[in-house]
Amino acid sequence: MRKKIVAGNWKMNKNLQDGIELAKQVNQQVLGNNVTVILCTPFIHLSEVSKVISKDSLFLGAENCASEASGAYTGEVSAEMIKSTGATHVIIGHSERRAYYNEDNKTLNKKVKLALENELTPIFCCGEVLAERESGKHISVVKQQIEEGIFDLSPEQFSKVVIAYEPVWAIGTGVVASPEQAQEMHKVIRHLITEKYGKDAAGNTSILYGGSCKPSNAKELFDKPDVDGGLIGGASLNADDFMGIVNAF
Ligand code: 13P
Repeated sequence: MRKKIVAGNWKMNKNLQDGIELAKQVNQQVLGNNVTVILCTPFIHLSEVSKVISKDSLFLGAENCASEASGAYTGEVSAEMIKSTGATHVIIGHSERRAYYNEDNKTLNKKVKLALENELTPIFCCGEVLAERESGKHISVVKQQIEEGIFDLSPEQFSKVVIAYEPVWAIGTGVVASPEQAQEMHKVIRHLITEKYGKDAAGNTSILYGGSCKPSNAKELFDKPDVDGGLIGGASLNADDFMGIVNAF
């Protein structure tokens, strides 16, 4: 059966010292929990955070990776480098990367494949902006992101991918999707996977919700049958809030 996952996305927050402190706090509280808990941190934090977490209960991820394997790409960080820090996961295609750094589905597809080649679990993000939802295009937008981003993977590769549905209008706004809105889209995504890779693959794929998820609203979201956890921004910057979400399961 698919995993329950709560992943924190620190985005561009916390200097190195504060990040290590936060990771230590989460690490202390997370022991013994049956949810897969992941901290996705800025690149420079990875190797230090890796040293202070217990790898059997708390996992480490990056927030992005380069779309090329290695070479003359000043300022980029490769999937192989991420792997060498002890990280196991990488967020790919976050809406902030799509919007501010022009990352399109073709580029993201390359990143997903490089992550997989380096034995990192891609957390592939999708989600519509408000205008797309209001004009009734939200499902076709997400469908296209998924089809172009990850549907040319082999079944074996696809089985290693985690999907995060993050409606852009809910990210950092305090406007969380209703449990029904989340469930509707997660069900659509699982149906797409069934059509492409079959029922077993669909049943085994973890689909996370992201966007203004907090301890106070996590339970009703996670109670929905196709919501397998969360990708958490703001509330992951405080250990108690983050663990409040983990413990909502
Ligand atoms: P918030 O939880 O701050 O809305 O951010 C969600 C997100 O973008 C996680 O990747």
